[in-house]
Amino acid sequence: MHCYQSLQDPDQAVVKQQLKNLLADDRSGVLEDLRQEADEVRRRWVGEAVHVRGIIEFSNYCIRSCRYCGLNRSNEQLHRYRIPPDEIVETACEAAATGIKTIVLQSGDDFFYTREVISEMVQEIKKTGIAVTLAVGERPGEDYRAWREAGADRYLLKFETSDSGLYSRLHPGTSLDNRLKCLRDLKALGYQVGSGFMIGLPGQTADILAGDLMLMRSLQLDMAGVGPFIPHHATPLGREPAGKVSLALKVLALSRLVLPWAHLPATTALSSLEKEGPRLGLTGGANVLMPNITPPEYRRLYEIYPHKAEAADSPRDLYQATLELIYELGRFVGRDQGHCLSPTELTVKEESIYDSN
Ligand code: 5AD
Repeated sequence: MHCYQSLQDPDQAVVKQQLKNLLADDRSGVLEDLRQEADEVRRRWVGEAVHVRGIIEFSNYCIRSCRYCGLNRSNEQLHRYRIPPDEIVETACEAAATGIKTIVLQSGDDFFYTREVISEMVQEIKKTGIAVTLAVGERPGEDYRAWREAGADRYLLKFETSDSGLYSRLHPGTSLDNRLKCLRDLKALGYQVGSGFMIGLPGQTADILAGDLMLMRSLQLDMAGVGPFIPHHATPLGREPAGKVSLALKVLALSRLVLPWAHLPATTALSSLEKEGPRLGLTGGANVLMPNITPPEYRRLYEIYPHKAEAADSPRDLYQATLELIYELGRFVGRDQGHCLSPTELTVKEESIYDSN
């Protein structure tokens, strides 16, 4: 099977139909073929390096009411925490000293951390020379600008679903349009931008899922995270079924085929449903792992969904396990900050590989 070429067709309708056919095709060999092709495309475009991003989940307060997320403001069962900024910076600097080249600062949408506070944290962490990724939700464009000026390199903001009706039902009070505006603003400010969506959301159809992949491509994302939906008992979607691991792996492989240049993580959601998630991810299109380095006392409280992988392991053990897996697969740990190269930069690289043959 050679899907990669046909997915590059300039006619968007052709590509979308092809994606729908592949998503609907349940024959046993299809998933393995796609995974193999994704692995090959990953190797050709972004190589054997696996980039390790240490993630600090620094606050589980959130002003939003996303119907799938355990952090939603109406969940009164959750004990809320905020890590003080100096402790966040200290955690990041310790990680830098152990060799981690990118730190991801993630939280609920929590305006307690003001524009200035986040700018100062970014400035402090940047002194260590590592890359900083922010994932703190929808904020005014001026916040995004200030953080970029403070030195932030990347921003993660998932669009969650490309269907505006489903988006509105899942996110009361906000819109897909607004989220896409944030993503455009971030790109214009020069961030490397990551987004993505959930697989198996209640109400999601094959048409919507194909649309999700098309949207990722049209946004020309630098990074893309796709993971299965996992029901959380303290949310309105608590009794819905989880997304299927096999479908999540298929969508990951297709993500690599439509975004060959991008950095794709093996997501924590995947690893929470399937303990071999990191291995299956890395052998099926992914080139990024994001070990959780949040100080242990806060860790289990960042419960966006239950039984989150890594909740119990110490940061040191997790980092070690991450490195071991990378070596075991015959890959190597990214030696630099692991910035994303644009499609044109990488296309040139790909052509030069062909030239030398
Ligand atoms: N299941 C799977 N993923 C979830 N997220 C939030 N809640 C859930 C859930 N119940 C994901 C969203 C969000 C990211 C931080 O976690 O994609 O962007």
